[in-house]
Amino acid sequence: MSADLTRSPAWLALKQHAAQVGSRHLRELFAADPQRGERLVIEDVGLYFDYAKQRVNADTMDLLRQLAEDRGVRQRTAAMFAGERINTTEDRAVLHVALRAPAGEQILFDGHDVVADVHAVLDRMAAFSDQVRDGSWRGHTGKRIRNVVSIGIGGSDLGPVMAYEALRDFSQRDMVFRFVSNVDGTDFAEAVRDLDAAETLFIVCSKTFTTLETLSNAQAARQWAVQALGDDSAVAKHFVAVSTNADEVAKFGIDTANMFGFWDWVGGRYSMESAIGLSTMLAIGPKHFRDMLAGFHAMDVHFRDTPFECNLPVTMALLGIWNTNFLDAATVAVLPYEQYLKRFPAYLQQLTMESNGKSVTLDGQAVDYATGPIYWGEPGTNGQHSFYQLIHQGTRIVPCDFIGFGQTRNPVGNQHDLLIANLIAQGEALAFGKSADEVRAEGTAEALVPHRTFDGNRPSSTLLAAELTPFALGSLIALYEHSVFVQGVIWAIDSFDQWGVELGKQLAKTTIAELTAAQLPALAHDSSTNALIRRYRQLRDG
Ligand code: F6P
Repeated sequence: MSADLTRSPAWLALKQHAAQVGSRHLRELFAADPQRGERLVIEDVGLYFDYAKQRVNADTMDLLRQLAEDRGVRQRTAAMFAGERINTTEDRAVLHVALRAPAGEQILFDGHDVVADVHAVLDRMAAFSDQVRDGSWRGHTGKRIRNVVSIGIGGSDLGPVMAYEALRDFSQRDMVFRFVSNVDGTDFAEAVRDLDAAETLFIVCSKTFTTLETLSNAQAARQWAVQALGDDSAVAKHFVAVSTNADEVAKFGIDTANMFGFWDWVGGRYSMESAIGLSTMLAIGPKHFRDMLAGFHAMDVHFRDTPFECNLPVTMALLGIWNTNFLDAATVAVLPYEQYLKRFPAYLQQLTMESNGKSVTLDGQAVDYATGPIYWGEPGTNGQHSFYQLIHQGTRIVPCDFIGFGQTRNPVGNQHDLLIANLIAQGEALAFGKSADEVRAEGTAEALVPHRTFDGNRPSSTLLAAELTPFALGSLIALYEHSVFVQGVIWAIDSFDQWGVELGKQLAKTTIAELTAAQLPALAHDSSTNALIRRYRQLRDG
């Protein structure tokens, strides 16, 4: 299968094309086409996507689209929307699109309409959220709930935290929202240290309800709440669970009447709009939550129905393939010029890297091409004063996704214009740079000219939207989700499994036993691991 890709006519044509035009400078590309800045733009679902500063021309895009055709992107997309078990290594369907399908639409999985199930849970979540938000859901002592602590990790945490931060300005401001993920007890301790247990609701989020970190933190939370409230029965009013595993929820001691379910066909990193988003709904309310789902859905429809030439996720994915496989870029920097999106890069790290960090194809052969790049980023303008130096003048190509909004929710003087001016200027500087002659013309001393020269030709895309609303957030996330999917199809990998996280979990079980045994047991690891275990025990025990 991997040989298929690198020997396919479309791939070979792209290789040849890259050899001819891959090093053409963006200055030349812009000079050759004065309309480039308007032509290489797609605008739909409220997003303006400018990819004119990517190192592509019309032929590149045609060849990339041909690659997508040949690799079966259309057929795989149809298969995903039809609920086929495209996650073959786990024998699962991949139906997160059903989580945001409007009521009344039908998506069948094994002959059963899952959209009706989705809306039944959404309605329960909405009723519960309304009760908590209006104070009619009371804690064990009769006090209203003012604090919500969501416990989960990975896909059961990153989406909820990111969405809460992104939509904070839509949240009920007299309530406190905290998120606990790390098994490091500090995370839990700091989250609850100033909270009154009588006013605190814990949401334990775990698809499997077997995850070490989440169950450890949930145990700690239960102990903390029961100790403060003096009664085991307090759990009923202070704990709800979100899971697909009712048996484990019951075993843990949470009444399944207080459980919000989702389904096997929802991947962890694709679950923030399921009941895993209960904290989001509690924060922003059911109406705004539904607006967010509408944003996701609008992008789903766009992705499914729009020709490749003006398809946002397909275009974003193909640019990523070009940068990764033909320009040898190893990373993507995600740079939101929007403080509310400060957790967006972290969220995208799981979405992109857990999905496409794979090195064998669906049929188990080693790939002979690069797959998922490393995603990272920080909000602008902070990053400008730290790592942008490398992006501008380092030896590596770092394709950037700039994200900005026309309006801010917090106008402070002209600061929003200052923010967006920086976003626009960065893309311009990266693309066009500053030649040695230009530097000299400024009267720079000759010895400094090489240091002050910018080669430019560094690719970026810019995404603009009117305002960071729940709808805009939903459409932005779905854009990246589908882009990841398209890339996975082209690379012929399973974007929906995550076997790579298993080995570490398994080894940790042995190590936990060795760290916690009263007497150091015989160690059979390598010499470094053995020494670390011994040294840790000495340091811990003094
Ligand atoms: O270990 C990785 C992972 O399985 C992620 O894919 C998932 O989002 C996370 O752990 C949490 O899993 P769960 O929701 O089952 O607790």
